[in-house]
Amino acid sequence: MLYSQDVISEVKTLNDIVDIVASYGVRLEPRSGEHVGLCPFHNEKTASFSVNRDKQMFFCHGCGAGGNVLGFVRRMENLDFADALKLLAERVHFNLPEKTSTREEKERAAAQASERKLCEEINKLVARFFYDNLYEESGAATREYLENRGVKPELMRKFGLGLSRDEWSGLATNFPEISLHKFETAGLVKKGQKSSGYYDRFRGRLMFPIIDTRGRVIGFGGRTMKEDTKEAKYLNSPETALFKKSECLYGLNLAKKARKDEIIVVEGYMDVVAMHMYGFTNTVGVLGTAMRNTHARLIKNSGAKTVILILDSDEAGMRAAQRAIPVLIKENLKLKILEIPDAKDPDEYLSKFGASKFATLLANAKTYLGFQLDVEKRKHDLESAKGKENYAKAAVNILKPIESNIETENYALEVSRDTGFSLSAILSDINKKRGEPERIFVSMATVRTKNDSGLKNFKNCLLHIVLTSKSAARALEKSECLSPDEIGGESYKKLLEFAFEHAKNTQILSPNDIMDFFESDEVHQILAEIFINPTKYTSEAAMEKDLNVIAKKLKESWLLSQILAKKNDTIAAKSLESQRKSINSLNISLRDG
Ligand code: UTP
Ligand code: MN
Repeated sequence: MLYSQDVISEVKTLNDIVDIVASYGVRLEPRSGEHVGLCPFHNEKTASFSVNRDKQMFFCHGCGAGGNVLGFVRRMENLDFADALKLLAERVHFNLPEKTSTREEKERAAAQASERKLCEEINKLVARFFYDNLYEESGAATREYLENRGVKPELMRKFGLGLSRDEWSGLATNFPEISLHKFETAGLVKKGQKSSGYYDRFRGRLMFPIIDTRGRVIGFGGRTMKEDTKEAKYLNSPETALFKKSECLYGLNLAKKARKDEIIVVEGYMDVVAMHMYGFTNTVGVLGTAMRNTHARLIKNSGAKTVILILDSDEAGMRAAQRAIPVLIKENLKLKILEIPDAKDPDEYLSKFGASKFATLLANAKTYLGFQLDVEKRKHDLESAKGKENYAKAAVNILKPIESNIETENYALEVSRDTGFSLSAILSDINKKRGEPERIFVSMATVRTKNDSGLKNFKNCLLHIVLTSKSAARALEKSECLSPDEIGGESYKKLLEFAFEHAKNTQILSPNDIMDFFESDEVHQILAEIFINPTKYTSEAAMEKDLNVIAKKLKESWLLSQILAKKNDTIAAKSLESQRKSINSLNISLRDG
């Protein structure tokens, strides 16, 4: 491998596989913990392509394609490993350590960098132009609009707000010396469908420059100033070399300066402006997209430890909040969620009720667990006995993952009050749930087929065991029951060799990381198939039992194929046959590992 495991892991962490797959136009729908869609690697009408966010892997049940995010990009773009890694690193502005790269690679990196530089320069120029427009005669209506919404001139300046006049070629007219192609690169003009002419993307809009923490204008948002228009209310810059919508937070440049432990996240541009206006200067906005781990990382990098998520009080906002929970928790951010009563968004609430009422709301923001309980509670009729029971049961599932007993008891007490069930009953159900494994072990010994797919199951199962348990791998190698040459198939051979090697050192690799050691698509497919929905063993004994049954089955199958091949050589065949008979006396013991 060209890069260290740490570097590769970091790049993978920054590029969520669900987002990457979606960015190639694959429409994914959430289904029982996974995201499912039509496979981009083969033609199909029913969705058999699934992406697992927890595992960061994809697998197609139709064509068998599978792998991690790097494998996905490699296949989609037809790249080798190093180029796929570079592409993903570039996407998140991650600087790969300098490696001896080819001239071609250097040229490509330089081209990307200069494109970003160009966007930066053009955006800066245009932000200034929009800004100036606002204070011209023709900006009067927009200034008035802002004043009516309570935005004082000082705040307009702080956010660098501007105006794109309602013209089709404002940029061309004002910057005759700059080629339109440059504006296109920065996403500011678009090419007409039929004619070859360019026209302005933003027309007649209040402009919000999006500024990153390095002070660069990376893109724009624009709110239409036209009434009764069919155009979208808000428009963002398209993705450019510099602007990636899901990797920036509006207002972070200002919020970072507030140096607070908490960051408040809201949904809209105007909400951010309003929050700052009323003194909540540690507020940022997500730009019409779902919370991603890239957002979470930006927040973490800003120094905040707690996130208060305020999403619009509608169905969509609630769903967005639910989806954001795991993303933020995963980055170890403390999370609170605020539902705004009697207003559709923070901007409206602030102008109706003012800052001090809002501060009280903020201080009483629910923890995400409290929020989840609330959402669940609304689904049940707590007046009825059945409703109480159903809510209590659902609550047990919500509270199951809490680590602290004190915290658990606090919430359990709340549930007890709401349902009338005793605290001890609720706590004991939570504890019971904690003891249960997520998936119940299905013994492979019951799969007694000798055909290919049965064998494949056995091989997968065996690899699963030896790749997750080093002692199992060592025990298998020591027992000499099954060698890599005997498992059958080149890819399985490589994987078993890898498992034996891996078991000898102290480094622990996740299945996703193991993929990066192999260039072969087949190996990736096998690993994805094994690990996207792995069996969980409830005990070492259960695993040991499977290891024995399966290793022996595979050995027997190998011996049978050898016997068949050597049927004209009686001596050899006899020796193989006697080996076959003695298989059952072998014992692979985990204690040997
Ligand atoms: P809202 O429709 O809730 O608007 O969209 P708002 O922020 O309350 O705007 P005002 O108060 O009417 O001015 C919330 C956010 O969703 C994105 C924008 O980022 C917006 O700020 N959005 C909305 C779009 O990207 N496109 C749209 O057409 C609408
Ligand atoms: Mn609003």
